Amino acid sequence: MECRIGNLELKSRVFLAPMLEPNDVAFRLLCKRAGCGLTWTGMTSALSRKKLDLDDRPMLQLFGNSSKGIESFMRRYDSEVRGWDFNLGCPSKLSKRLGHGACLSDVIVIREILEVMRSCTDKPLTVKIRKSDLAFDILRICEEVGVDAICIHARTVSQGYSGDVDYEFALKVKKRSGIPVIFSGVSRFECVDKILKDFDFVMLGRLAIGHPEVFGDKGDVSFGKYLELARKFGLFFRQIKYQAMNFSKGLVGGKRLRMALIEARDVEDVERIMKKD
Ligand SMILES: Cc1cc2nc3c(=O)[nH]c(=O)nc-3n(C[C@H](O)[C@H](O)[C@H](O)COP(=O)(O)O)c2cc1C
Repeated sequence: MECRIGNLELKSRVFLAPMLEPNDVAFRLLCKRAGCGLTWTGMTSALSRKKLDLDDRPMLQLFGNSSKGIESFMRRYDSEVRGWDFNLGCPSKLSKRLGHGACLSDVIVIREILEVMRSCTDKPLTVKIRKSDLAFDILRICEEVGVDAICIHARTVSQGYSGDVDYEFALKVKKRSGIPVIFSGVSRFECVDKILKDFDFVMLGRLAIGHPEVFGDKGDVSFGKYLELARKFGLFFRQIKYQAMNFSKGLVGGKRLRMALIEARDVEDVERIMKKD
């Protein structure tokens, strides 16, 4: 199986899936330290003016329903990232309303966006899709445009994030694909080895939330380390508290920690509560 995407040689075939809320820079850095092959940002608009911290050199995921703003955004950040991804998999109500993510179904627009993205970078370009009638048309476009890998999350838009992943559908994508395929939708960590026999790469989403050690645990990836990095990057209290909740899951006494965290009013409160563990 492949261990490279485009011109990028990778140390691990297990990645951190794009996730809007959990994937702040401190968390992504911990996942990378733990041995994760590639990290993804959450979906980002090319029209956003928000400051981006990209110290882990992630795959930067864009979403949108046109190529507006993409060129200048990519030129601005290309030197700071390991590659780029385009989101054709988000099933949210907002995506439905605005026609982006999995609800962008105009193949002419999809092709145009991917052509613009391809022309802006020599780094890996990937596309994330869901199970849909359009999946194989998108795959063909990706191959024609020179996309380096495709990621399949084999749930339909109406399934959202629950119900079974259609493994057979994902296998069909792999079989028909001339480019590497990343599998998304791993529900149990024990399945990773088997999935890596069928697919080039896997990405972990919910299994990794609050648990960077799933990537191999090379070194200290504790909440204490997260907090140190979160302070360095000036992350907001709300985000730090949210991650403390995530890290507490699976810990002995985790429920008690979460009850205490509800009352936390500042970062020092969070630190004190999590240190008691
Ligand atoms: C909290 C959360 C936020 C997510 N945000 C994004 C996102 O910004 N872009 C994206 O392509 N997928 C996003 N996803 C989907 C995941 O990348 C992944 O495809 C999905 O959760 C299935 O994989 P899992 O079972 O490993 O979680 C998100 C999922 C979760 C749970």
